[in-house]
Amino acid sequence: MRKPLIAGNWKLFKTIAESVALVDELKPLVAGNQSVEIVVAPVFTALCRVSNAIKGSNINMASQDCYWEEEGAFTGEVAPKLLKDAGCSHAIIGHSERRQYFGETDLTVNKKTKAAIAAGLCAIVCVGESLAERESDRTFNVIETQIKGGLDGIAEEAFSKIVIAYEPVWAIGTGKTASDAQAQEVHAFIRQLVARLFGQEVADALRILYGGSVKPDNVKGLMTQPDIDGALVGGASLKAESFAAIVNF
Ligand code: 13P
Repeated sequence: MRKPLIAGNWKLFKTIAESVALVDELKPLVAGNQSVEIVVAPVFTALCRVSNAIKGSNINMASQDCYWEEEGAFTGEVAPKLLKDAGCSHAIIGHSERRQYFGETDLTVNKKTKAAIAAGLCAIVCVGESLAERESDRTFNVIETQIKGGLDGIAEEAFSKIVIAYEPVWAIGTGKTASDAQAQEVHAFIRQLVARLFGQEVADALRILYGGSVKPDNVKGLMTQPDIDGALVGGASLKAESFAAIVNF
């Protein structure tokens, strides 16, 4: 009942021309796939052109961040409605790199998530523990705090527009993916927590993506786990062939 979602987070890579070339190459490789929701997240400057390039295809587009105000004197920020205007259907929020380098907190994640949903975007809300947190047995505490803070005050009805991405920080860009069992354990914990906070129905319908060194050769094992509903892919989404292989797992 939960349609898998595979999203490619391009991070700070690719010019406009390279971004368009990547989706042009990707389109025919995934064209036949109706069973997976496909999303790519280019840099802000490439959004409009990528939006044009994916028109009429089964590829959707996300921003990598958004601000929580609609407009005003907020130099450098981009509002959710402007992302919608540029062709986004999704917004990645609270990525660990934003938490680590740009001062993102559970409070700002919460504000951004609410603003994204209000603008009609689907929020892909990221959570995940660091290596030190895992090694000191604090994984579940960290995830619980991030989910409680990030999703605080969100109405049950809004959950059709929310996806959670579990990305253990130690697995991002390291080639060291969580084992299927390690990922499943946290995904099951997240689903139980959401059931406790927002009800069983919300939890059953919620898609929880795994991210952290997802590659064509490990995606299948991850996707076979009962609580893993998709993937948020970094490095392997930068090449059409490897991203298509993940999408068509
Ligand atoms: P990698 O797939 O490169 O580990 O990145 C994961 C990620 O951060 C996706 O958002």
